[in-house]
Amino acid sequence: MHSQILAFFLWLSSGAQVAAQRIRASPTSQTFKSAIVADSGLTYVKNSGICETTRGVGQSSGYINIAQTASIWFWFFEARHSPQTAPLTVWLSGGPGCSSMLGLFQGMSINPKNGPCTVNPDGKTTTLNPYSWNTISNMIYIDQPVGAGFSTGSMTVTSTDAAAVMMWTALQILFESPQFSSFQSRDLILATESYGAHYGPAFITYFIAQNALIDSGALIGKKVIFKSLMINDGKHDPLIQYTSYITFAEDAPGYGPLQPASVISKMSDAFFQNDTGCRARLQACYAAGTTSADNALCAAANSLCVSHFIIGPMLISWSRLFKKHHDIFLPATQGRDSEDLLRSSSNITFPPLHYESYLKSDSVLAAIGATSAYVSCSEVVVSAFNSTGEFGRTALPPLAALADAHFPILIWVGDADIKANWLGVHESYAATNWTIDGVPVASMKTVDSFTFSRVFRRWTPLTSIRT
Ligand SMILES: *[C@@H]1O[C@H](CO)[C@@H](O)[C@H](O)[C@H]1NC(C)=O
Ligand SMILES: *[C@@H]1O[C@H](CO)[C@@H](O)[C@H](O)[C@H]1NC(C)=O
Ligand SMILES: *[C@@H]1O[C@H](CO)[C@@H](O)[C@H](O)[C@H]1NC(C)=O
Ligand SMILES: *[C@@H]1O[C@H](CO)[C@@H](O)[C@H](O)[C@H]1NC(C)=O
Repeated sequence: MHSQILAFFLWLSSGAQVAAQRIRASPTSQTFKSAIVADSGLTYVKNSGICETTRGVGQSSGYINIAQTASIWFWFFEARHSPQTAPLTVWLSGGPGCSSMLGLFQGMSINPKNGPCTVNPDGKTTTLNPYSWNTISNMIYIDQPVGAGFSTGSMTVTSTDAAAVMMWTALQILFESPQFSSFQSRDLILATESYGAHYGPAFITYFIAQNALIDSGALIGKKVIFKSLMINDGKHDPLIQYTSYITFAEDAPGYGPLQPASVISKMSDAFFQNDTGCRARLQACYAAGTTSADNALCAAANSLCVSHFIIGPMLISWSRLFKKHHDIFLPATQGRDSEDLLRSSSNITFPPLHYESYLKSDSVLAAIGATSAYVSCSEVVVSAFNSTGEFGRTALPPLAALADAHFPILIWVGDADIKANWLGVHESYAATNWTIDGVPVASMKTVDSFTFSRVFRRWTPLTSIRT
């Protein structure tokens, strides 16, 4: 998910505070104490039998305690085939502040669920997912930063760069532990979606810099070497993506106009012609620095875009998740779901939320070793990121730098998603004018290590992973 945009549908309730709590081991849980990171370690349970019921396929779930009062939730599933040699894929849902359990169990409209099971409508039982990504890859779903999903504690993360440090620390502890140390040298894949367009490139760039420090002897730690990055329906660049809302509404390729000309013209006038409008404000943000005044300018710019004509109407479907906001959205998508134009915006049964009941059941929580309450998307994290103005800023520079350095990247987009529509995603990387060995990236489907994929007639474009 979720995107800069989610921010603006979460602003109402600010009461939720993340409790500063130390994760306690349940009687069945195992622990590991780090020798290199102070006050840290793992608390987890093995083979709970929850969700992945394929005989002989192992799993573990619990907390990476990265500090005395900060615990990061993980759920690991062995690959169904060749777990000893299969890659390890780290899945991170977006938000910021959304749980990776969304990717595991539910998927948003804009991203596929990719975990070993689906929760049935009774909210109590599950059905194996034959297309689970753990068919061919070991999978670890990590809730980050603190505040997302089951991750809990008093540590406040206000930016993607700070989240990168938190993730690096979590991976240090994981790779130090006997349970996970063998994965350090495995092929590592970072797979993410939506706001993960910020996370992915920044995290990998940070890990590469840390690896260089380790190599030079300036830092002691475990190298974290990702081999590839996958971003589904990413929110790369607000200025470009918001502009594409107009283009896409005017003529969604393969589907036709989504809005009557009168609506398009109003959106367009407001967006382009008024110097106090969305485009001008975001341009000012792009030209700004990182002082607190600049941060406020960027937060306000994005907030203006969201609360005005462009995004609010596009986001009707958020109401499925946050029912309390249901009444505030206008049906400017002509009744379409902003994440899937093939569906009706009033269809609040999709995607189903059965998994949430499941993750609130005491018996499931006890089995998987979860001792904190589940928060599907954290408003606390959203406000923290908003405070640094990150929602108004582009995430493209580190992605472009990775592409230029021949880092393997897969960008894939469902072509029925209005919100992270593929025209905007395609424009986002075209705008950087990347050339790899002299070839413009934007005009090609695959150039060197970089692949762009528009997936036809799908909102969940990928049901299984290819290696
Ligand atoms: C721009 O928009 C603002 C706020 O909606 C309005 O007060 C102002 O008159 C507009 N300016 C122009 C030139 O349209
Ligand atoms: C983000 O910050 C802007 C500017 O301070 C504010 O108008 C907006 O309400 C904030 N949004 C959230 C979700 O905190
Ligand atoms: C609503 O979602 C359900 C479940 O996916 C689907 O079967 C149904 O066709 C959808 N209805 C509309 C009007 O989009
Ligand atoms: C990319 O190239 C186009 C066309 O040559 C140019 O208009 C645009 O300013 C360039 N963008 C960047 C970021 O350099």
